[in-house]
Amino acid sequence: MMVKGQKRSRLINQFKSIFNCEADCFSFAPGRINLIGEHTDYNMGYVYPAAIDKYMGFAFKKNESANGHIHALDLQQSISFDLKELIPSEYLWGNYLIGNLKELQKKGIQLSGFDCVFSSEIPMGSGMSSSAALECAFLIGVDKLFDLGLKNWDIVHNSHASNHNFLKIKSGILDQFASVFGKKDQAILLNCKDRSYQYSNLVFEELQFVLVNSNVKHSHIESGYNDRTRECAEALAAIKAEFPQVENLSEVSLEQHQIVWNKTDNSPAKRARFILEENKRAISFFNSLNQADFQSCGQLLYESHTGLKDLYEVSCPEIDFLVDLTKPLAEVLGSRIMGGGFGGCTLNLIQKDALPKFKIMIKENYQSAYGIDPEIYEVNVAEGAYAE
Ligand code: GLA
Repeated sequence: MMVKGQKRSRLINQFKSIFNCEADCFSFAPGRINLIGEHTDYNMGYVYPAAIDKYMGFAFKKNESANGHIHALDLQQSISFDLKELIPSEYLWGNYLIGNLKELQKKGIQLSGFDCVFSSEIPMGSGMSSSAALECAFLIGVDKLFDLGLKNWDIVHNSHASNHNFLKIKSGILDQFASVFGKKDQAILLNCKDRSYQYSNLVFEELQFVLVNSNVKHSHIESGYNDRTRECAEALAAIKAEFPQVENLSEVSLEQHQIVWNKTDNSPAKRARFILEENKRAISFFNSLNQADFQSCGQLLYESHTGLKDLYEVSCPEIDFLVDLTKPLAEVLGSRIMGGGFGGCTLNLIQKDALPKFKIMIKENYQSAYGIDPEIYEVNVAEGAYAE
């Protein structure tokens, strides 16, 4: 509660100084980590995320007009728009919000005017899903302000649709799901096909997850993310030509993969192979974690990285360097690239008492190889989105 209060106070003051009145409601949504199960979400497979204690926060109040005014406190940028027209914004962050309002509009929800400010604790472009937190915090706040009665899954699906339809990012539901459904000290194994999910404890005595931000920035729009979704569609078409009953890449068996591609090593074959293996790893990771077999968890992280690098081809030299640095250290159980790829963070499972040594080793080596200062974050698993 303490933290919630602290988060509010900056928003309260800033809202007042910009709009000259008191905000009525507040909303917060966290970033996320993903333990394992990468790029499986849009292939209807398993993901295993957790929400983290870095939040996007909004303050809202209705105004007497038909316009929305949104001010980004950290960027010092503002947008104003007619809620009936919802034309695209000049800012990417603005389009995440406008796109979500458009999806609400399609459902027949027409809002009256409102003012809001927002601020973020989540580093942008780091793979911690600041954009999903932006969308979810905004929607949860709009829901509270206008008493729309949206459910958790409505928030996830609205944002997902906005990404596809308005931003043209063909992402899955991993990020929004984690931001909305997250619980303190729990990770969530989600089956993206039937939407069933299961919480599992993520509290360790001697271990901890640590993120290393490579500070190599990526954007899904410019990066190869949509290329991967297209290649997965091509791979599925090749599978369907032989096995028409297969509905998505997560259903493909090893035997089917061998029949369709035999020893061919083209992109669709590699992408499909990765999805097949990554889904198996997600289940193994869940089982190992729940049996407290942490060495196996670490091994699966390294294997996931190798797959993301060689089969899915979404890593980059800086990230491979960060992962390779950890391999000689017995105190690091595993490490891999996390999120959409092409930069961002590595996720590392390490022994708590080795953290000071780990930090020094990573910083010195990365700095001397690339001249970049990496940020290192200790992961605290936290509550999902809320409004008050
Ligand atoms: C990004 C996307 C997610 C997911 C991950 C990769 O974070 O937004 O939907 O595909 O990449 O697992």
